[in-house]
Amino acid sequence: MKIKLGKIEDIYSRQLKDIRISVTDRCNYRCPYCMPLEIFGEKYAFLGRKDILSFEEIERLVRLFVNLGVEKIRITGGEPLVRKDIEKLIGNIRSISDKLDIALTTNGYLLFEKALALKNAGLSRLTVSLDSVDKDTYIKMNGGKYGPSRTLQGIEEAERVGFSNIKINVVVQKGLNDHNFVDVAEFYRDSKKIVRFIEFMDVGNKNNWKLKDVISSSKILEIINKKFPVEPIDKQYNGEVANRYRYIDGKGEIGIISSISQPFCGDCTRGRLSTDGKFITCLFASDGIDLKKPLRSNASDEHLISQIKSVWSSRNDKYSQDRFNFPKDADAQKNKVEMYYIGG
Ligand code: GTP
Ligand code: 5AD
Ligand code: SF4
Ligand code: SF4
Repeated sequence: MKIKLGKIEDIYSRQLKDIRISVTDRCNYRCPYCMPLEIFGEKYAFLGRKDILSFEEIERLVRLFVNLGVEKIRITGGEPLVRKDIEKLIGNIRSISDKLDIALTTNGYLLFEKALALKNAGLSRLTVSLDSVDKDTYIKMNGGKYGPSRTLQGIEEAERVGFSNIKINVVVQKGLNDHNFVDVAEFYRDSKKIVRFIEFMDVGNKNNWKLKDVISSSKILEIINKKFPVEPIDKQYNGEVANRYRYIDGKGEIGIISSISQPFCGDCTRGRLSTDGKFITCLFASDGIDLKKPLRSNASDEHLISQIKSVWSSRNDKYSQDRFNFPKDADAQKNKVEMYYIGG
């Protein structure tokens, strides 16, 4: 390859280190903060088979990203486990590099059946979304679909087959689970699983986000601290999105992700690959550069790399920071991509 490889930085010197890949825009849940049922009903037109990147296309791009310094791949969606043979994709990504950190975010509904295959394929880490351990609240938070029992069993099975330090994501939304999110912390205390509470975010245009429905991280912390006293601990790595706390009685750690009240754009090293092959440089972007077309018209690796490099080197995204500083301007940005399409 003639083109220069190696690490790439944006205009604020943020290196491209992580790629989050949405492998499907489909999901078996309808969480109101992501795919509200009123919009994503039976007739909703998801992308067709030909529109979405094939495993081979994803693998080729991952190889190029790794050549550009990417160290971490997160497989997301939609719900990644509804994509057929997802473990094959993971196995093929693993064969690109032994060192790559490969993580997957799932709602856990299909995890019980898939956990062993994922482990054997070389997946490094798992994050499971679980907004409540109370059946009625859980059902409300996934659009009336399912209770939590399959996901809870899936998490246990994942641990049994060898996944350690599983992360549990809890989106906190006023009026839905603000009365009992602390029960998730209690449920997983002393279990080596890391529960992370996430402020309800204004991602996309379809979740009817209102500032008044956000429970701030300081409020979340106050509620947890009252029941289970915690103290802050250092980030595990530069650019980690969660602020970490440990229980003073030694029963493990939790995280709080404060995209609204304490934005973390300053050290954001994350790029995203949409289900249909766009390279997108911010969770709140309006669009990205299309890599599918060149992939499907025999473009060389050099061409693809130069496209990726030119987009990243001119990246100036800091949406959450700007929303925090200038909320009116952020309101004006109506056209934002949806999270299930670019990978949470
Ligand atoms: P690890 O540290 O590798 O375990 O992953 P992570 O902390 O990135 O965790 P995860 O992928 O589960 O992300 C947790 C949540 O943080 C996501 O679901 C989003 O809600 C939020 N998040 C992740 N990346 C970004 C980002 O770039 N911008 C914003 N605003 N939120 C993000
Ligand atoms: N606000 C905060 N978190 C969200 N997620 C999806 N939509 C939102 C939102 N609007 C979370 C999911 C999952 C991860 C991929 O992103 O719960 O844990
Ligand atoms: Fe599906 Fe995850 Fe979106 Fe919920 S947050 S609808 S589980 S993709
Ligand atoms: Fe990164 Fe954009 Fe999220 Fe800021 S808002 S942390 S730039 S993805």
